[in-house]
Amino acid sequence: MKRLVVYYSLSGNTKEAAEKIASALNGDLLRLETVKDMPRNFVSQIIVGGGQVMMKYVPKLKPYDKDIYSYDEIILGSPIWNSKIVPAINAFLEDKDAAKKVTALFFLSGGGEVKKGLEAITKKLPNLVNTVSLLDIKHEDSKDNDIKIQQFVEKIKS
Ligand SMILES: Cc1cc2nc3c(=O)[nH]c(=O)nc-3n(C[C@H](O)[C@H](O)[C@H](O)COP(=O)(O)O)c2cc1C
Repeated sequence: MKRLVVYYSLSGNTKEAAEKIASALNGDLLRLETVKDMPRNFVSQIIVGGGQVMMKYVPKLKPYDKDIYSYDEIILGSPIWNSKIVPAINAFLEDKDAAKKVTALFFLSGGGEVKKGLEAITKKLPNLVNTVSLLDIKHEDSKDNDIKIQQFVEKIKS
């Protein structure tokens, strides 16, 4: 089974999880990057990122360095912005054939409400089987991330 972990990460939490998941699955990594950079300052990121989610903005992505169609399945990773999946992931999922390859989803949040946003993304992923909710390193319960990742990986492999 050839697996690709596709993710977006602004401040590194989703990147760290993606690397652990790809390594445990012996899979490859594809980091999604928007053509237009996000601001570096956190307050500006909240304003710009939050605005993008509200406006349902779909950014342009930089070309991929992997052939996504050559993989059997895709494991998708996203931070949560304004209780939703980030705009870059929505841009990736505009490709319906890519969306069909997604069988597992992991997401990183600061600990806020994520249910509604996940219901929305689940509708775009017809073959989704496994999902895991992980926490930003700043959250005290993020110490459970590693065990959750391990269980998530075992389910994907089974
Ligand atoms: C624009 C923006 C909006 C966010 N909105 C939420 C939110 O609604 N709920 C939440 O729990 N965390 C929210 N967060 C926190 C991120 O989900 C969290 O820090 C995550 O770990 C970031 O992942 P990254 O380091 O891979 O970028 C937000 C962060 C940003 C930058």
